[in-house]
Amino acid sequence: MEKIILDCDPGHDDAIAILLAAGNPNIELLGITTVAGNNTLDNVTRNAQAVCQVAGIDVPIARGASVPFVTPQIVSEDIHGDGGMDGPVLPEVTGELDPRHAVDLIIDTVLAHPPGTVTLVPVGPFTNIALAMRKEPRIIELVKHVIVMGGSYTRGNVTPTAEYNIYVDPESAEAVFQADWPVTMVGLDLTHQALATQELQDRVRAVGEAAGDTEISQFILDIWGFIGTTYREVFEFPAPPVHDACTVAALIDPAVMKTEAAHVHVELHGQWTKGMTVVNFKDRPGMHHSTGVAAEMQDHRTQVATELDWQRFADLVTDSVRRLTEQKAAGRADTRTV
Ligand code: BDR
Ligand code: CA
Repeated sequence: MEKIILDCDPGHDDAIAILLAAGNPNIELLGITTVAGNNTLDNVTRNAQAVCQVAGIDVPIARGASVPFVTPQIVSEDIHGDGGMDGPVLPEVTGELDPRHAVDLIIDTVLAHPPGTVTLVPVGPFTNIALAMRKEPRIIELVKHVIVMGGSYTRGNVTPTAEYNIYVDPESAEAVFQADWPVTMVGLDLTHQALATQELQDRVRAVGEAAGDTEISQFILDIWGFIGTTYREVFEFPAPPVHDACTVAALIDPAVMKTEAAHVHVELHGQWTKGMTVVNFKDRPGMHHSTGVAAEMQDHRTQVATELDWQRFADLVTDSVRRLTEQKAAGRADTRTV
């Protein structure tokens, strides 16, 4: 069982990460924290609450940072729409937020559990994680693992070299990569393999139809409908990538992806390369070792995701949707019999 805190900025693919985590029995979702990224903090927090409400997920949700560490805020309405998760009709949110700041929820939760048992899963800009490290540095040795969606080693999606989550808050990202805790980087090289193809969409639709309750599956299909159009028009992709859910999938089933040891630095100053993740793979030699920089890059402390088993990924997503759908249908039936 993996105990996780999902730090997110929903976000179409963030929503699927929440659903995947909440619907899988091998994940204990200790809390959801939100961070400004794809859209304003207000909107991404509302979106997280809406996802949980639609799917009947009852976990603490705490608002976090409303702006990046240093860099001025850049939202991505062009990809995720004006509200940050356009497409599905969102319910009026009724649940209460956790009263704490996200940073305090993260720190309290890590300190309240035995050392080495809580995994952090940032799938938006890493601002909350960097702030938590600064506020309570003890979490660095207490956290089990940090598995991030962000970065890439072959291409960017904001600039030719920079991926969005890193580009919008590179200073926080660099702090997270350099801290002395185990980090796995799930970047675009991997997540662009995780497409919500027609096959996956049909499987999700079939789950709702079989259960006689299509609310959750239709919500997901509406998410993929909107982001699918964006990805077709902006990036010429045949189907939308489910970036953020890949992190959760790897925690449920490590065989869902291959990783390689590497050193990762974030470029903070490059005129054209700011926000680039500079990845030096251990088993792909080619660097001259005699400079200080080169020596530092030989500390291959990060695992970098390279190859996805799409079928396993699709099975995990479908399984979670089935479980959440059945749980929600059972909850409705209970309410009717009371
Ligand atoms: C990342 O940026 C956001 O648009 C997505 O939610 C994902 O976390 C992909 O670059
Ligand atoms: Ca995200």
